[in-house]
Amino acid sequence: MLNMKILVINGPNLNLLGLREPDVYGMATYDDLTSYIQKTANELDISVKIVQTNHEGDIVDHIQQAFGRFDAIILNPAAYTHTSIAILDALKAVPVPAVEVHLSDIYEREAFRHVSYPSAACVKSIVGKGFLGYGEALAFLKEYVSNIK
Ligand code: DQA
Repeated sequence: MLNMKILVINGPNLNLLGLREPDVYGMATYDDLTSYIQKTANELDISVKIVQTNHEGDIVDHIQQAFGRFDAIILNPAAYTHTSIAILDALKAVPVPAVEVHLSDIYEREAFRHVSYPSAACVKSIVGKGFLGYGEALAFLKEYVSNIK
């Protein structure tokens, strides 16, 4: 499929990569992350739009607006992963396949991070692989979307 379009949504505090908890998230910055995603998308011949917001409702808006505009969503809801039924409901409402990505392995961290609401509405979850998780999500969705088209 030519020109597959994927929307990447990054949630709160991911704009502070490089500064925030480097022992957990590493030294690379948010710009490094977007460059990596863009480069990998180019290699896979995928057109990608990357957005970041610190606001839960903005994530809901981005998911809703993806319908009819994007073939798939890659979503790192950050801390809203563990609290947001609104994001889960948005993913369930909109028939656009989504992959959940977390830089860290949420299942190996504090107990409150072990629950992921959006995972119930995602076709795949990738955790603990750092930036490479986004690359894996792009490659997975390229295959997944061509199979459902
Ligand atoms: C995160 C994991 C979340 O628990 C945390 O709140 C984040 C980042 C990750 O990418 O590892 O902000 O989603």
